[in-house]
Amino acid sequence: MTPRSFLLTAELADYVQASSEPVDAVMADLIRETAEMAERGEASPTMQIAPEQGVLMRLLTRALGARRAIEIGTFTGFSALCIAEGLPEDGSLLCLDRSEEWTAVARRYWERAGVADRIELRLGDALATLRELPAEETFDLAFVDADKTGYAAYVEELHPRLTGNGVVLLDNTLRGGQVLDPEDESDSALASLNAALATDPRWETVLLPLADGLTLLRKR
Ligand SMILES: C[S@@+](CC[C@H](N)C(=O)[O-])C[C@H]1O[C@@H](n2cnc3c(N)ncnc32)[C@H](O)[C@@H]1O
Repeated sequence: MTPRSFLLTAELADYVQASSEPVDAVMADLIRETAEMAERGEASPTMQIAPEQGVLMRLLTRALGARRAIEIGTFTGFSALCIAEGLPEDGSLLCLDRSEEWTAVARRYWERAGVADRIELRLGDALATLRELPAEETFDLAFVDADKTGYAAYVEELHPRLTGNGVVLLDNTLRGGQVLDPEDESDSALASLNAALATDPRWETVLLPLADGLTLLRKR
């Protein structure tokens, strides 16, 4: 199973990808290497975001004019590469993850793509790292794709750190459809968070049925 928009048939998902900006050669190699890691049992095959989500995130980064971004959950670096490519040359992306092994793959591809100087990776528990950031560290864009039970806390921590028109992207907010019928604590956590965000006056919220569900939050 490869990452794709799960609500679409395989044929339509291919069509969506073919009708969107293609991933570049470095990204294609990273997607291939990550799939090979998954085949060897070194990673889950669905951890990486879908290619069409990656090109959307690069477009959004550019369209928002984001200069400073943060990612929570980096894995082998595909989503970070998409955000970094959307930043201006003097922009920066702070990546938080706890896996040295997976992010070592990410670092190789960021170098190859020529964006390594825009990315700072901090290893450790993401919530602790986020809480340790100086209060004046703010972001124009945040992407959350780590432990699902931590999302509510990440959203709370990010709110005061977002700049005026700042946007947060939350991945996997449909959980393969299991938000309707939770099977584990990750499904339940996202079902609760989706319900809370829909009526939270601090955020303008839309849940896009792209890939595994991508929620966009704009700070009011
Ligand atoms: C789904 S993967 C991220 C996929 C990545 N965004 C991509 O598109 O390739 C989740 C990542 O979150 C990291 N992670 C999970 N819980 C974490 C935590 N509490 N602190 C730091 N990293 C965490 C894992 O190590 C893993 O690399």
